[in-house]
Amino acid sequence: MKPMRWVLLGLIVMVAFGMSVAGNDYIGAAKCKMCHKVQFTSWEATGHAKAFDQLKGDEAANPDCLKCHATNASAELPGVQCESCHGAGSAYKKMTVMKDHDAAVAAGLLIPTVDTCKSCHTGAPHDQKTIDYAAEIGGVHEHKAK
Ligand code: HEC
Ligand code: HEC
Ligand code: HEC
Ligand code: HEC
Repeated sequence: MKPMRWVLLGLIVMVAFGMSVAGNDYIGAAKCKMCHKVQFTSWEATGHAKAFDQLKGDEAANPDCLKCHATNASAELPGVQCESCHGAGSAYKKMTVMKDHDAAVAAGLLIPTVDTCKSCHTGAPHDQKTIDYAAEIGGVHEHKAK
């Protein structure tokens, strides 16, 4: 029966590994902060961090507002958090994965492009200021507070 045990163990390991690779749950900005204090501090001062505060009353529960003013369209993840631009972090947050660019990208880390910005900065439903994304993208963690 011993070989059978190894087969079972193997299956359990495969399932557990498969889940951790497939898993792309949102973990929230506080978890990123543990290792990225500098980015967190500069992000915290931006309008992105405070985007949820723009919603008043029922708007804070309105999916049509949450999709751009919260992360993963969830009021539990208020504001345009790290994972709105970098992708859900549960699978890439581990130090060993994070240190390896290719492994992190394979686990769901996104390096944002101008298209990432334009997923929310569509020009609708608000009249928006003209933002030069190509110029802003390099300094996205240095945005000044509004
Ligand atoms: C356990 C520590 C740790 C956690 C937690 C963590 N990171 Fe990282 N991250 C690192 C390390 C180490 C690097 C590689 C060195 C560096 O660039 O700072 C890195 C690199 C990055 C990079 C640059 C990747 C590249 O290859 O250009 C991004 C973007 C990033 N992390 C975003 C995040 C986000 C978003 C979260 C939260 C969802 C997060 N990290 C959570 C440690 C961590
Ligand atoms: C998930 C949606 C979303 C994404 C993705 C997004 N933004 Fe924003 N952005 C917003 C919202 C909402 C505001 C308004 C925040 C406020 O007024 O509190 C905003 C505000 C801004 C502002 C105004 C200044 C400020 O800090 O308030 C700039 C500049 C900006 N975004 C640039 C970018 C760039 C560059 C990218 C891509 C790297 C990007 N945004 C990606 C939703 C998003
Ligand atoms: C498609 C993405 C998107 C949706 C959906 C969205 N917003 Fe916004 N919102 C933005 C962006 C981007 C900004 C920043 C505008 C800028 O600075 O140019 C913003 C800014 C704001 C502001 C700050 C004032 C202003 O106009 O700059 C308020 C208030 C606001 N939004 C409320 C709402 C409400 C209420 C809803 C739901 C009815 C909503 N938003 C839906 C993307 C969106
Ligand atoms: C609005 C989109 C957006 C948000 C929100 C955002 N980032 Fe980034 N991040 C970017 C872009 C774009 C770059 C690449 C910037 C560049 O080319 O210098 C980047 C780069 C990084 C890097 C690489 C090193 C560096 O500083 O350039 C790390 C680490 C990182 N982000 C972590 C975070 C963490 C942690 C948060 C949340 C506290 C966060 N980011 C929030 C868009 C975003």
